[in-house]
Amino acid sequence: MEVLMSLNALLELQIHTVWSQPQERWVLSTINEKFKDSVNWVLMFQNCSIDIQKFRLRCLNLSDDDHILQRWMSVVARRNVKQLYLKLISHTPIQLPHCLVTCQSLVALELKFEIKLCVVKLPIYTGFCRLKSLDLEMIKFLDSNLLGNFISSCPVMESLEIISCVFGDFKILEISSTSLKNLKVDSGDTPEPNSDGLANCEVKVACPSLVSFNFITSSTWNFTFQDLNSLQDVFVYYDYSPDQATSEECHYVMSKVLKGLRNVQRLKLSTGFLTFLNLAVAKPVWFSTSFYNVKLLTLSVLLNWYKQVEPIINLINLSSNLEALTILIDWMEWDECWEIPDKVTCSTYHLKSVRLLDFGGSENELELVRFLLKKGQVLEKLSITWLGGEENRREIIREIKKFPTSSNVAFTFYNPASFFYGLHFLDYDSWKYS
Ligand SMILES: *[C@@H]1O[C@H](CO)[C@@H](O)[C@H](O)[C@H]1NC(C)=O
Ligand SMILES: *[C@@H]1O[C@H](CO)[C@@H](O)[C@H](O)[C@H]1NC(C)=O
Ligand SMILES: *[C@@H]1O[C@H](CO)[C@@H](O)[C@H](O)[C@H]1NC(C)=O
Ligand SMILES: *[C@@H]1O[C@H](CO)[C@@H](O)[C@H](O)[C@H]1NC(C)=O
Repeated sequence: MEVLMSLNALLELQIHTVWSQPQERWVLSTINEKFKDSVNWVLMFQNCSIDIQKFRLRCLNLSDDDHILQRWMSVVARRNVKQLYLKLISHTPIQLPHCLVTCQSLVALELKFEIKLCVVKLPIYTGFCRLKSLDLEMIKFLDSNLLGNFISSCPVMESLEIISCVFGDFKILEISSTSLKNLKVDSGDTPEPNSDGLANCEVKVACPSLVSFNFITSSTWNFTFQDLNSLQDVFVYYDYSPDQATSEECHYVMSKVLKGLRNVQRLKLSTGFLTFLNLAVAKPVWFSTSFYNVKLLTLSVLLNWYKQVEPIINLINLSSNLEALTILIDWMEWDECWEIPDKVTCSTYHLKSVRLLDFGGSENELELVRFLLKKGQVLEKLSITWLGGEENRREIIREIKKFPTSSNVAFTFYNPASFFYGLHFLDYDSWKYS
């Protein structure tokens, strides 16, 4: 347990430095009471005319029967808090107090729960007039209209993160904001898999100022992107299976999605996304969008069937200014050995660097390498990170170096990462710097 509080005069108070090893001295309920007392003391009995710049409260196992959290939030709001960071375990629903929502000083708010989802009742009136950054974690939202209105009514919000939250059977999750620049929705890690409540939901994102967008879900692929003309960095992850979708639906959804993404510079897509893309490719009219600005493309791919390779080639072809391509190979039993026909064209006028991760050296992987080396007129670097467990690396390397190239390519081979790269794919920031 820890209370960190900076007043104008920069006061920091940490509970565990006040009491060393409280767990050895008291039972949890006593520690909780003592903790509450000390926060009360700091907040209510100190000089109340001093503004609180930053208030950080961590890790209290709160059973908020006495609405203590609401009271603390009210007190810091009245004391003109600018940054409020709360991370707790709560056993009762939380309501944001009116004076916090209408607080004129609040710029950053973090409301994170641990261990247990917490229902947060959102206000029905507008507020947060100065709030620039909002981070929410492990919250259960019950009302899609309230959440949508809440987001769109924060007039200067630039950054919104919604992590491991559950949307109670939403039909629509609407994120519209004229000010929002960074948006991260990651429900890949909810307490139960595929339980983020988005299974029958349309996700609608309309944010003309949005620059960076990460969306991770395992439940839906029904996205509508509107007014995303400022978008530069995008990571869309879904691993939903298209089995239940008709090809008409696929075309319809993919065309909306692709149009929304057409200005991006850095694009990262999951295997699931490419599976839908593959179905959309069948009707080129839906795939007429070009990605002139994409410089960095990162894909996780399955290479079992040739039809999984087509969307990759198409995407590269449509990204006519692509400079760096990273392909993470998703592992699965090979079903078929394919070859990319010679007649397949693919423009790569600017592609200088290709990285392949979790490379196992199978025939399909080698065929993809052969194709990229042949087409990469200006390719300078090809780097390969082994999956691990390949017995005949030397032979594979020899084979790769024998492939005809259109330019002078420097090859690098890396030992397997200490981690399985597949998991890091979900790490939204890792790809930007690689
Ligand atoms: C409380 O703080 C204000 C502003 O710093 C100061 O003017 C006032 O004297 C303080 N009051 C007490 C009781 O310390
Ligand atoms: C938190 O408190 C509840 C009772 O209020 C108790 O059942 C639970 O075990 C506690 N959890 C932790 C992590 O201490
Ligand atoms: C997407 O969601 C909308 C709104 O719920 C619905 O009308 C539409 O049929 C959905 N589309 C697909 C392909 O599931
Ligand atoms: C690549 O794009 C060109 C037009 O720029 C097109 O003629 C060609 O068919 C495309 N190749 C593939 C594999 O789609």
